[in-house]
Amino acid sequence: MIIAVDGPAGAGKSTISKLVAKKLGIQYLDTGAMYRAVTLYFLENNVDFSNIDEVEKNLDKIHIDFLNNIPFLNNIDVSKQIREKNVNDNVSAVSALAIVREKMVDLQRKMSNNKSVILDGRDIGTVVFPNANYKFFLVASVDLRAQRRYKEELEKGNKSANIDDIKKSIENRDYIDSTRTVTPLKKADDAIQIDTSYMNIEEVVESIISYIK
Ligand code: DC
Repeated sequence: MIIAVDGPAGAGKSTISKLVAKKLGIQYLDTGAMYRAVTLYFLENNVDFSNIDEVEKNLDKIHIDFLNNIPFLNNIDVSKQIREKNVNDNVSAVSALAIVREKMVDLQRKMSNNKSVILDGRDIGTVVFPNANYKFFLVASVDLRAQRRYKEELEKGNKSANIDDIKKSIENRDYIDSTRTVTPLKKADDAIQIDTSYMNIEEVVESIISYIK
């Protein structure tokens, strides 16, 4: 069984998908973490994203996998680094590259082969698994998404978090993710849209589970 959960940054996809996975006893795959890991590798190794040959050569040196939902880049736990500002600021540009998407989509399909998996991302229901058993598209207003990310930053102990900067960063990512030429963020025609703006996490989880037979 494949469950696809797509939507913009901060709509609650990863928190909700993880809980649904736990309740149903299936695997969770955070595809955003994979694009983040590629971005981290490129930043750490000064790869020029505008040079496709360089991107291609370096993609071959990247190995991504997960152990208990923890992302590993070339066997190193990168769960913290991939959430940092330099990655946030560059991940939309890296994930707009066709060659990066091709490699990630291929890997996502392999990782889900013959398993029951809930995947969250931007193109799961449209490209990675157009025949997924269930498709959801989570949305929420930009102000509420910024508030959620701001709260997460405060919980992480980031005292310099600024809600206006977070909102601008989300708007910028929304813009790049939904206007890129290669598979932009788009609701699949057959996806169930859930507006999470005024729902708590448990309500969204229950709503999704109510569709699963
Ligand atoms: O879900 P997230 O914020 O961790 O995703 C990080 C970035 O990766 C996001 O700006 C868009 C990109 N992404 C994508 O293009 N396709 C996916 N399936 C998942 C994420």
